[in-house]
Amino acid sequence: MSRRPAERIAVTRARRRSFQRRLLAWYRRHHRDLPWRRTRNPYHILVSEVMLQQTQVPRVIPKYREWLRRYPSIEALARAGAREVREAWYPLGYNARPIRLRAIAREALRRYRGRLPRTRGELLALPGIGPYTAGAMLSFAFRQDAPILDTNVRRVLRRVFAGDRARPSERALWALAADVLPRGQAYDFNQGLMDLGATVCTSRRPRCGRCPVATACASFPLAEAAP
Ligand code: ADE
Repeated sequence: MSRRPAERIAVTRARRRSFQRRLLAWYRRHHRDLPWRRTRNPYHILVSEVMLQQTQVPRVIPKYREWLRRYPSIEALARAGAREVREAWYPLGYNARPIRLRAIAREALRRYRGRLPRTRGELLALPGIGPYTAGAMLSFAFRQDAPILDTNVRRVLRRVFAGDRARPSERALWALAADVLPRGQAYDFNQGLMDLGATVCTSRRPRCGRCPVATACASFPLAEAAP
């Protein structure tokens, strides 16, 4: 059996610290004011993360507010009927999501007395919660030092630390996301990675001229960057 050596994206200590410092300073100044960033309620954060899995921020904001008026707690959602919940989700699409959210609420009520669990293993055992959502819950709702990796974060980390043409494995990117995470600041750092990917380090026409980490970026300047 042939085995490839474990692929790893190496980052020096100085580079990691500079990236952390710049990203955190940028996030504190430029972060988007989003309703799920004004709460510490784990259920509210879960609702936002499940909505954001397949839907853009501007469409999620009004539905997030409406949903929480209708189902303000895990208990309220667990008691609602499947059909009603599916209708309440409309028009966000992907009808499996509201049903999974309701299944999580029922499971949380049955197993954890209506609370959401705080460990990766327990979160991953809930319906529809994968590694990204588990990391988001740990770092955003429970303020633990847990990495996240979604489309935006993947692109930022790949460009900055591996180069725009590199194709690092999923495993290498998760290891990198954990490696660059500053202790005790996972909330701001992870939200910052997402904001940078959504507003500056975009897939098309990235705004390298406005990027706080451009001078430390393995891909800078990107040929397709906006002028
Ligand atoms: N996409 C997924 N989670 C998000 C969050 N917390 N803020 C902005 N966009 C997101």
